[in-house]
Amino acid sequence: MIISKNKVKELIFPINFLWGSATAAHQVEGNNTNNNWWEWEQEGGHIADGSVSGIACDQYNRFKDDIQLMKELGHQCYRFSLEWSRIEPKNGYFDANAIDHYRDILTTLIENDITPMVTLHHFTNPIWLQKMGAWENPEIIDLFERYTIHVAEELGDLIPFWNTINEPMVVALLGYLLGTHPPNKQDMGTFGKVAVNLLKSHGKAYNAIHRTVKSAKRPQVGIVHNVVAFEPYNPNSAGDKRETKFRDQTFNWWILDSIESGIIKAPFGKNEAEDYLKNSSDFIGMNYYFRFLMKEGTFNLIPGPGEKNDMGNEIYPEGLFNLLVSAKKYNKPIYITENGICTSDDRRRCKFILQHLMATHRALQQGVDVKGYIYWSTLDNFEWAEGFAMRFGLVEMNYDTLERIPRPSAYLYRDIIQKNRITKEMQDQYLE
Ligand code: GAL
Repeated sequence: MIISKNKVKELIFPINFLWGSATAAHQVEGNNTNNNWWEWEQEGGHIADGSVSGIACDQYNRFKDDIQLMKELGHQCYRFSLEWSRIEPKNGYFDANAIDHYRDILTTLIENDITPMVTLHHFTNPIWLQKMGAWENPEIIDLFERYTIHVAEELGDLIPFWNTINEPMVVALLGYLLGTHPPNKQDMGTFGKVAVNLLKSHGKAYNAIHRTVKSAKRPQVGIVHNVVAFEPYNPNSAGDKRETKFRDQTFNWWILDSIESGIIKAPFGKNEAEDYLKNSSDFIGMNYYFRFLMKEGTFNLIPGPGEKNDMGNEIYPEGLFNLLVSAKKYNKPIYITENGICTSDDRRRCKFILQHLMATHRALQQGVDVKGYIYWSTLDNFEWAEGFAMRFGLVEMNYDTLERIPRPSAYLYRDIIQKNRITKEMQDQYLE
């Protein structure tokens, strides 16, 4: 989006717009020795920079300091995940100490006026579950429901926002089709089967939370879904447009269409009706990062021509606008549950945040019900198959000393939050 200086104006966000940041347990806690990612890391050769998650940011022990820092940085919401392998280290055995730990985090957040948004599953599986086949085994649907009920019984009084599963399509794609995440499979049939099991698990968990939690204020429960801006490589090619439509439909909208209708749609389902699934998301959690161009007959995802992040993915704020407008059809509140950039140049992070918030603001003006923006990530962390080299944080991590150092972008973000707007000065400073 190119904005000339004489066209800039102040952009005000709605009252009660929720501003926050996000992490996931395995990426920040440290010593998550009992899950499939830890095991995979130990095999060696899978993580681009050769690192292992190890002690990560040691947030398991330092969460009080981190929450204090979030407060100083003006965050109103913290999206984080519970580590299933800590809560249920063995099949059917629940660890009360792990629950106490997460209760402590939730209480600390609430005492500091930071709204918790809790993800039940963010990429990692307990080792015992992985041995059973995890997402390939339909038994996971009941096992995930049992874990969800336990969490809802033990912690439900403190959780206003629930995310059932983080990025189910990414779990299916990277773990079972591209093979870049564990269990490292590349099989189209398995990919589809896994996508259906993830979808069903979401639906059952949604209902379990609402059945179990009896708070005065009804909790808000939603799926968190990664959307990608797919566009044709050649906008004049009918084949490229067909390919784009197919990817857009299967990756971006299949899961949301199935949740809305309660029908497991093709191509992964056979249009079977599942009552519990119907309307099983109080909001849509949308994670957005980049654009890919589609060429007929090529399976590969081709990054667009624009500026890239440090992972080589194209930065494309217009994609966020387009996807938000497309998601309006579901008539659900939308939280941008992740959006961020990995870069060693923090000025680019400032620009990224402003551009994506401007795209969000335009979507709001088009009547899209965006309720909040959650930047990924609060602090640098273990970026899965990329390791620690990729820096997404508002706060820089010194991994030798575990010191946290807020970057200029953290202060820009604080300013945006405090003013609930993007000012002309911010645009003048960071946008060319
Ligand atoms: C998302 C994922 C996060 C984080 C982010 C940055 O797909 O949910 O855990 O890794 O990407 O790449």
